[in-house]
Amino acid sequence: MNNQINMPEISEIVTNPGNVRQKDYKIADLSLSSWGRLEIEIAEKEMPGLMAIRQKYSQDKPLQGVRIMGSLHMTVQTAILIETLVALGANVRWASCNIFSTQDHAAAAVVEKNVPVFAWKGETLEEYWWCTLNAMIWPDGNTPQLIVDDGGDATLLMHKGLAVEKDPSLLNCPTDNKELQVVNRLLAKVYHTDSSFWHRAVEQWVGVSEETTTGVHRLYHMQKDNTLLVPAINVNDSVTKSKFDNIYGCRHSLVDGICRAMDVMLAGKNAMICGFGDVGKGSAESLSGQKCKIFVSEIDPICALQACMAGYNVCTIEDILKTADIYVTATGNKDVITAAHMSKMKDQAIVCNIGHFDNEIQVDALNDWPGIKKINIKPQVDKYIFPDGHCIYMLAEGRLVNLGCATGHPSFVMSNSFSNQVLAQMDLWKNRREIGVYVLPKELDEEVAQLHIDKLGAKLTKLRPDQASYIGVPINGPFKPAHYRY
Ligand code: NAD
Ligand code: ADE
Repeated sequence: MNNQINMPEISEIVTNPGNVRQKDYKIADLSLSSWGRLEIEIAEKEMPGLMAIRQKYSQDKPLQGVRIMGSLHMTVQTAILIETLVALGANVRWASCNIFSTQDHAAAAVVEKNVPVFAWKGETLEEYWWCTLNAMIWPDGNTPQLIVDDGGDATLLMHKGLAVEKDPSLLNCPTDNKELQVVNRLLAKVYHTDSSFWHRAVEQWVGVSEETTTGVHRLYHMQKDNTLLVPAINVNDSVTKSKFDNIYGCRHSLVDGICRAMDVMLAGKNAMICGFGDVGKGSAESLSGQKCKIFVSEIDPICALQACMAGYNVCTIEDILKTADIYVTATGNKDVITAAHMSKMKDQAIVCNIGHFDNEIQVDALNDWPGIKKINIKPQVDKYIFPDGHCIYMLAEGRLVNLGCATGHPSFVMSNSFSNQVLAQMDLWKNRREIGVYVLPKELDEEVAQLHIDKLGAKLTKLRPDQASYIGVPINGPFKPAHYRY
């Protein structure tokens, strides 16, 4: 189906966006919209924070007319984020931040409400970057004032586009990285059509809010190098994001992804989790909940000690190759599971990644392994048979398994993450900070939590004035100092 999607040339989109796109969206199937709408209606009831923010600000419309572009998994939960931004007045366009994560019925329901979406499940890399660029260009040729990013790809396009206009020789730098080659080809086409496109785009750009750990790392890098172009809000490090989505979201959605892909009994199996940060902790709990025996690899002694205290075995990946049945990477690092590792794994091992990018597992090197045979079992599930006869199963081609093989985190946890996203977008528009990376104030973090506890029937204890002064906090919060780690 995707091969039939008609995609106008980049040169045409840049010069004449309003005319060349017959329809200002590109999705798999608009007829899925009523199914999408029914699932959105279920999810709205599970997203109390986001819906409360929608209600609170939909009269004042603090984002009236603001052009917001999103590069974030196009799921049912994201549909509610998008529709909240629209309710606050924004003029929104969207692309996914992963080639496998789009829920086509959710994309259709959003398009049905006249929000342009460029995303479908199973994009090629060329299509993915084409979608990102299209979501950035409004029919009148304008570009975003605000970006909601997840992993930093939209932010990267803005920065790299500008850098190329300043020094076009950057396009000729040789690279083995296939995705970078795709980005360079796209930027070359834009540059040869309009050599000041990104200068104008950056002039219009006011700020970005970033969803995930890996995207936030990229932002702090740019801040350190003095290359960051706009103020950025680190949504990931709101407590109500990373200590909920990354942990409890993955606790729910990792097992969901593995089960939908493999339909295999998990109890009794040996599971190796690489990385015991927030996502690793949620992933370990997910598989431990199914009674797997958990092994953890870590580079950081504090996280390794935490894994020991949770009752898990800490070892290296090399130690476990003959024992582990399931491998999950959750590090945000590269080349954590190599092709050489996979060549030595136990027969029938399941290998997957839940970190943001696909470079945690060496899938390209696996494809190039001498004598390897690859059999596609179904979309996002591949069997690799090594010359010695043992096989492994690779899920979602090494891309995040919970969104590639399942539907990502459930609505309730995403309501916390996306409440922070909306507050961040309002902050960026209203406060016009200096260029830098910021986190939202703790008052807002506590407010996001407050918006979710009623739904769970939790009843807070009210601090008495004498108690407040004894522990030295304001009676209505914030209840913890900035350095508190939760
Ligand atoms: P984190 O920094 O809390 O944890 C990563 C851990 O990996 C750290 O403890 C680090 O010491 C460890 N690590 C680094 N290199 C390692 C190596 N070579 N071997 C073993 N351990 C290593 O980050 P996080 O918040 O847990 O996020 C991890 C990744 O997951 C990021 O890419 C993030 O963007 C992504 N993420 C995915 C989802 C999802 O739904 N799939 C949700 C949130 C975050
Ligand atoms: N990240 C993890 N789960 C997600 C979901 N359901 N929607 C959007 N982004 C996500």
